Amino acid sequence: VSKLALHGGEPILAASPSNRFVWPVVDEATRTAVNNQLMTSISIYDRSGVIEELEQRLEARFSVSHALLTSSGTAALHSIYAALRLGPDDEVIVPVYTFFATVTPLLTTGATPVFVDCDGNGNLDPAEVKRHITGRTRAIVVTHMWGLPADVSALAAVAKEAGIYLIEDASHAFGATAHGKAVGTFGFASAISLQAQKTLPAGEGGIVLTSSDEAFYWSLAFGHYNKRCRNEIPSDHLLAAFATTGLGLKLRIHPLAAAIALRQLDSVDDVLARRRAIASSMLERLAQLPGIRVPHIPADVEPSWYALVLQYDQTEADGLSRQRLHQALLAEGCVDIDLPDSTRPLVEFPLFQRPGDIYRAYGGRSFAIGEWPSARVYQQRAIKLPVWHRAGDEMLADAYVDAFEKVLQNRAQLLRTQDAVPPDNRP
Ligand SMILES: Cc1ncc(COP(=O)(O)O)c(C=O)c1O
Repeated sequence: VSKLALHGGEPILAASPSNRFVWPVVDEATRTAVNNQLMTSISIYDRSGVIEELEQRLEARFSVSHALLTSSGTAALHSIYAALRLGPDDEVIVPVYTFFATVTPLLTTGATPVFVDCDGNGNLDPAEVKRHITGRTRAIVVTHMWGLPADVSALAAVAKEAGIYLIEDASHAFGATAHGKAVGTFGFASAISLQAQKTLPAGEGGIVLTSSDEAFYWSLAFGHYNKRCRNEIPSDHLLAAFATTGLGLKLRIHPLAAAIALRQLDSVDDVLARRRAIASSMLERLAQLPGIRVPHIPADVEPSWYALVLQYDQTEADGLSRQRLHQALLAEGCVDIDLPDSTRPLVEFPLFQRPGDIYRAYGGRSFAIGEWPSARVYQQRAIKLPVWHRAGDEMLADAYVDAFEKVLQNRAQLLRTQDAVPPDNRP
């Protein structure tokens, strides 16, 4: 028996900046790239310079006809929804368990989001999707949660059979593959966030990927105007007449952000490879622990390991609560462990409970009527760990797993004091 740090014992990891998870890595090459861009241009009106270079690199990497950079992942999703030309008669199937920005831009179209429950990995469940398709369904949106690919070939088959679009939110899954094919290339279009935490960071930025010219022209015109639209939309296309003004928004990426992402693209495959190696060694040990379930990785799938999200079932650990376990792990120095509770069933947010208070198209409706039991359980059991990526980070990954072992093996100490923990009274 060893004394837990929460009770005054020696912590597994000292509180030191060198023990923190560091992301993004702002290396010398990134600083140089930003400096050079600063001296070249900080506003680019057309598809040239760093914008063109990054878009071309992404098109080649994903083998798609079009990569369009945007100001954020949210903007990329918004542009895709605009490209679908959705209206109040339309329904769009969305995951109930995802980051809210997967769905929030949809509300600007007046279409109805139809929330669907998840599988054991927190990903959209294709069987549930099928049950919710109606004559009004225009699209299925899937997020590859935490970088673990959803059952995207099943979803593509469901979409194909129903004659509707599949849209991927691959914001967590840059670099993930399913059946050897890049996640983000299975549907009609996909969105990827380049926000600072993401695997390809720009700081702020996003990408629309599509091989549909129509989706590209509409996404382009939705968030760009004048030169880009005049140069890239064919003169015989409906949108050509609107090229000077675009359709109302400006969603361009900042050139300095594009310069960061372009440089980070050079190292992203090394990062992905190290995350894979570290994740697999962590999974092997974590899977042995009481109460812990590691993600199920289907054969022929390669996650990007944006994060490692465990499922913790306290009934298998004598009732030690997730909050108490988290507290004890933090005390052991594992300060980058998180209970990702702001990623929760979206129907719990006022925006989806009372959308009509904000968007008149929705009148007195609520999208929060139904049951999403798997998503609720998934969120209530989730414990999120970083997946490290630098040479030498194995030491930190091992220490985190050591801390889990120490706390769970000595859980009797914690159970004696568990009542002192304030209840988790979030909704
Ligand atoms: C799954 C998912 N979708 C969309 C977004 C939105 O991206 P952004 O923050 O770049 O707007 C994020 C992250 O922030 C995300 O995690």
